[in-house]
Amino acid sequence: MSPDEFRAAGREVVEWVASYLERIETFPVLSRVAPGDIRRRLPAHPPQSGEASDGFASRLLADVDGAVLPGITHWQHPSFFGYFPANASGPAMLGDLLASGLGVQGMSWITSPACTELEQVVVDWLADLLGLPAGWHADGPGGGVIQDTASTATFTAVLAALHRASDGRTATEGVGSGRYAVYTSIEAHSAGIKAARMAGLGSAAVRQIEVDAKDFAMSVPALAQALAADRAADVTPAIIIATVGTTSTTAIDPIRAIGTLAREHGVWLHVDAAYAGVAAVCPELRWILDGVGEFADSMCTNPHKWLLTNFDCDVFWVADRTALTGALSVLPEFLRNAATDSGAVVDYRDWHPQLGRRFRALKLWAVLRWYGADGLQAHIRRHVELAQAFASWVRDDARFVLVAPHPLSLVCFRVAGDDDAADRLTSALLDALNAGGRLFVTHTRVGGRMTIRLAIGGLLTTGQHVRDAWRDIQEAADSILTA
Ligand SMILES: Cc1ncc(COP(=O)(O)O)c(C=O)c1O
Repeated sequence: MSPDEFRAAGREVVEWVASYLERIETFPVLSRVAPGDIRRRLPAHPPQSGEASDGFASRLLADVDGAVLPGITHWQHPSFFGYFPANASGPAMLGDLLASGLGVQGMSWITSPACTELEQVVVDWLADLLGLPAGWHADGPGGGVIQDTASTATFTAVLAALHRASDGRTATEGVGSGRYAVYTSIEAHSAGIKAARMAGLGSAAVRQIEVDAKDFAMSVPALAQALAADRAADVTPAIIIATVGTTSTTAIDPIRAIGTLAREHGVWLHVDAAYAGVAAVCPELRWILDGVGEFADSMCTNPHKWLLTNFDCDVFWVADRTALTGALSVLPEFLRNAATDSGAVVDYRDWHPQLGRRFRALKLWAVLRWYGADGLQAHIRRHVELAQAFASWVRDDARFVLVAPHPLSLVCFRVAGDDDAADRLTSALLDALNAGGRLFVTHTRVGGRMTIRLAIGGLLTTGQHVRDAWRDIQEAADSILTA
């Protein structure tokens, strides 16, 4: 594909994306295909001769329309209220396109100095926007790095924590059996258990600490007990993974109290703020990170969820990078270079499990520049306000109950009644809403009870979409609860 052919085809593709976003509300939010439907629409074998000719983009896009779109769940649909959002914005898409065009593999500083240094600048910017300490900047003892996901960031934190807890021995000797423990709450994301497995600790090393019955935040007395029990059994507490904004309900673990315990025991504290962390761009919401700057050894948050940056983009900071690079730095001869040897540069390949890395900083840079602090704050505030309004409507309808605090933009509710019948009705309501195609919500269990999660956070979501969702919920309830 010559530059001219790319230019022409690229215009068509950009036009397709723009028009897709304009017509997104014409699609059912949740894809309706059955397993295998999409595969059946596609040729079983690759083409022998290429299709390189005029009209390639049109043919490709026709197949996207015909074979791919039916199998798309429209995450950018304004009535997508499931899971957590995965914001895609124009500036982020442009940044991604630039990254593709530059085609840089930025494993070491020398492989493209701008790939490292722009990333250092934008993660420092984001640290400032969230009110994180200056020591977490690239020119402090810590620093930030863009990872693909919060799961990888959590895994990375576990490796760094083990390195520190073992005085560097895990890097050469491995983790042994039953020697280290990981602490997280029963409400924390499964990424913690996965990280323990990947680190060779096994899920048996994970202590899933009880939570408070009302706000679902980690119980500090229960954590203290677990730490003491392990110490007494000669097991080394390696890392506490606390959550700011759990996946089920956006519960916020008490970081300051957990951090005080972590410090007493010399345990690494990682804060998983995958969804909620970015809300701290709003000064009035910065309380969610209270204690993080003082006590956390690492933290991650995902601009690819709620901060307008196309998947994937997780930012992971450490307060001190010594253990991180100690755990992950391996320097084979073929990667040696004068800049690395000088010690004057950062080689991000030492900051995560994989070697190669994309130029993700471009999309975050484009987002931070396009929106500015004011635009980012307006984006978060709008969703928080909409969620508070939605929660007030649920509260005023006796057929439903709110099941958890909703300080941000996720509202968890279910059909009133604390029995299996209420669970069945809640499930029936969820199924009816999603089958309708006009909105999409997902579920969880809170206190063992079936619960609907309505997560507001789409770039295109307006008050009207939330009012429409409430109307659909009420209408579905009218038929299901009176049947
Ligand atoms: C609190 C929390 N941690 C981790 C994750 C995993 O995110 P990722 O897909 O970035 O690994 C999620 C996803 O929703 C989450 O809510």
